[in-house]
Amino acid sequence: MRTKLVAGNWKMHGSLAENEALLRTLLESREASGAVRWVVCVPFPYLAQVQSLLSGSAVAWGAQNASEHAKGAFTGEVSVAMLGEFGCRYVIVGHSERRVLYREGDAQVAAKFKAVKDGGLTPILCVGESLAQREAGRTNEVVGEQLRAVLESAGNDALADAVLAYEPVWAIGTGRSASPGQAQEVHGWLREQVARAAGEDAAARLPILYGGSVKAANAAELFAQPDIDGGLIGGASLIVDDFLAICRAADQ
Ligand code: 13P
Repeated sequence: MRTKLVAGNWKMHGSLAENEALLRTLLESREASGAVRWVVCVPFPYLAQVQSLLSGSAVAWGAQNASEHAKGAFTGEVSVAMLGEFGCRYVIVGHSERRVLYREGDAQVAAKFKAVKDGGLTPILCVGESLAQREAGRTNEVVGEQLRAVLESAGNDALADAVLAYEPVWAIGTGRSASPGQAQEVHGWLREQVARAAGEDAAARLPILYGGSVKAANAAELFAQPDIDGGLIGGASLIVDDFLAICRAADQ
């Protein structure tokens, strides 16, 4: 009942020339891709390029962050309405790099999530624990709190038309992915929490992506888990053959 989704998070990578080559290859390969949703989340300055290359195609695009404010004196910030003007469908919210490096706390992440929803775009809400938190047996507590902050601020039905992504911080960019079993355990638990808050139907409809060192070699096994509905891909989304292999792995 859930469509699989594979989203590339380019982070702060790319150039006009590199992007064009990558996107043209994605477009050429898209025909045979089946029902999986393909998304690229690119740096703000490239949104116009991505919009012009991908408009009318079956590849959607999005941003990696947005302001929680609608407009005003917020130097360096970008609003959800601006992203909408460039055709963004998705916005990543609460990525651990934003939480850790830019000190975004649960309240700010919740405000951003709400701004994205109110602006008619689809938030991809990231949650995940650090290695120390996992080793202390606190994984569910940490991701549960990150989820609860959003549900309390945006309402229990806020995850309708949203995407959740479990990204253990210790697996991001480290080459050390969560095992399919480890990831499934957290995904299943998150879905239970959503069922409690918003009902079984809402929980059954919610796509929950896994992110953290997903590669062509481990994608199929991760995506075969019952509660893993695709991936949020960092490094491997910049290598077009790897990203395509991951998209295809989601289609099995
Ligand atoms: P990597 O795939 O490079 O580990 O990054 C994952 C990630 O942070 C996606 O948002």
